[in-house]
Amino acid sequence: MTRTSFVCQQCGHASAKWFGRCPSCDAWDAMVEEAGPAHRAPGPARAAVAVPYPEVASSDAERTSTGLPELDRVLGGGLVPGAVVLIGGEPGVGKSTLVLQAAAHLAASGSRVLYATGEESPAQLKLRGERLRVRASHLLVLAETDVDAVIDVARRERVVAVLVDSIQSARCAELSSVPGSVSQVRESAQRLVALAKATGIPVVLVGHATKEGSIAGPRTLEHVVDTVVSFEGDRHHAHRILRAQKNRFGRSDEIGVFTMGESGLEGVAHPSEIFLAERAGGAPGSAVLPALEGSRPLLVEIQALVGEGASGSPRRTALGIDPGRLALILAVAERCCGLALAARDVFVNVAGGLDVDEPAADLAVALAVASSLSGRALPDRATVLGELGLAGEVRSVGRIDARLREAARLGFSGAIVPGSAADVTVPGLRLRPVRHLADALAAAFSA
Ligand code: TYD
Ligand code: MG
Repeated sequence: MTRTSFVCQQCGHASAKWFGRCPSCDAWDAMVEEAGPAHRAPGPARAAVAVPYPEVASSDAERTSTGLPELDRVLGGGLVPGAVVLIGGEPGVGKSTLVLQAAAHLAASGSRVLYATGEESPAQLKLRGERLRVRASHLLVLAETDVDAVIDVARRERVVAVLVDSIQSARCAELSSVPGSVSQVRESAQRLVALAKATGIPVVLVGHATKEGSIAGPRTLEHVVDTVVSFEGDRHHAHRILRAQKNRFGRSDEIGVFTMGESGLEGVAHPSEIFLAERAGGAPGSAVLPALEGSRPLLVEIQALVGEGASGSPRRTALGIDPGRLALILAVAERCCGLALAARDVFVNVAGGLDVDEPAADLAVALAVASSLSGRALPDRATVLGELGLAGEVRSVGRIDARLREAARLGFSGAIVPGSAADVTVPGLRLRPVRHLADALAAAFSA
């Protein structure tokens, strides 16, 4: 005999009764009926077998390229057999375009690929495909929201990959809740995960994310899949950033960069070039930071604007960096170097809409602010790197070599770096090691 109970899919609260709103965490429509354990004799259902470590197969050799090197990089080198990847992003960012381009490539090798479109009609998909010049005769299009029907076709057609656009439109016929509800999304994803694990077919799920960045639907969806990737960018910029948030098969901080053009997404092999493309050299309030995104050095421009400040509390705005970090940097600059910032408005922006969340950006932010305040530009071909401590000391940062080599590659000739990097040498780059913010200010503005 089994007993059922209702379990909140957000917080795990269990009760004998169903509630529209979870009594524990107040989540709506999150209670799902779950069967309790069946009574049977104690002991495992079947004898488990442990495998000696050297005999454990590594899945790395079997990765399949999606044909998009930037996507492959974020996945950790391609699609792994049986892996389930969730690609989240706001509507219009280009998820369907990305997935269709990958599907077309996967199908180009002569293997069948299934694209289940629950969101758009096959005609709409074809329209996009024509724009992308997709001519993949092995790409199978299925306009279906019933997840069991999708799974059935995947098994029957012996496809090598399944793409579901989107998981919010998928549903299980036996559940009474509406498509897009927590229980439908979760159950549909679980069935697709079961398919992937049983057959080794990789499954890619498209998921809508809200403005706040969380993938709509149950948070637990992120635990069900192997890899969660977010696709970011806005209508005002052509570039799109694909960011791994969780990856059981690779680094979880890797990024891929694309530009959205007239005929689809194109990978950007050297993203620093696009992030610095529109930089107005020689202008005050700008510092170039050799940032690190995942394994990848990336040059970005930190912009600062220091304004007069109306009476009362000054405005502090940070776009692309943590506001708490900005407050700290301003306090240190004021206290340790006497920069008169307390009554001023300060705006800091990472050009190109990128997020930089590493402390290695501190010194570049401080120098950009100091530059705007004084009206003097930083040396044109110099980059700035270093973490600031509360006493104004400049602390070391990770992987400094890789960052500086990227700077040299892009034609920079100087770098203000932490004192600990004094013996680093990078061809073509003159390093100015500094131990304190005051030394950095002197190095930047003493010319
Ligand atoms: P889409 O992939 O439909 O986004 P999502 O599935 O995330 O909602 O693409 C959205 C936008 O991209 C749409 O506004 C049109 C634009 N686009 C291009 O600029 N070039 C292209 O080649 C394609 C296919 C789309
Ligand atoms: Mg779409």
